[in-house]
Amino acid sequence: MQVFETNYDLLLQQAEGILEAEPWYTAAMSNLSALINESMAGLNWAGFYLIRDGMLVVGPFQGKPACIHIPVGKGVCGTAIREDRIQVVPDVHAFPGHIACDSASASEIVIPIHSGDSVRAVLDIDSPTKGRFSAEDAAGLAKLVQLIEEKIRWTD
Ligand code: SME
Repeated sequence: MQVFETNYDLLLQQAEGILEAEPWYTAAMSNLSALINESMAGLNWAGFYLIRDGMLVVGPFQGKPACIHIPVGKGVCGTAIREDRIQVVPDVHAFPGHIACDSASASEIVIPIHSGDSVRAVLDIDSPTKGRFSAEDAAGLAKLVQLIEEKIRWTD
């Protein structure tokens, strides 16, 4: 099986630089999605969905144009919001209700992002390789999301 390794120490250091240079969410999420896409091998989509009017709406990302609206509780992203829990999906075709934005996607990881006590957005990363995301990825990306929660500015 193909093994993908990411240097999370470097990724976190670079993410901190991005968030400190401009914490406003649109700018920060744009550069963070580009950073993730450059730093992790074997991806076909990396970006953010944000809660707006009670739904998830696509935010800054890298990859093919994606589904714009996702109801809370639907798909992998909506499930991450409803359960407020990281979702690591080794085979998206085996996930009930998975929303296929890009037919190339085979595995996916989604991590909820909070503003204070409430869930506000998700980080969503897709891969065309089944089982792409390891426990190390889940731990590294959870640290990235923790950093985002500490530094990001949600208001205009
Ligand atoms: N597959 C996701 C939809 C978003 S795309 O992957 C960019 C889901 O099931 O929620």
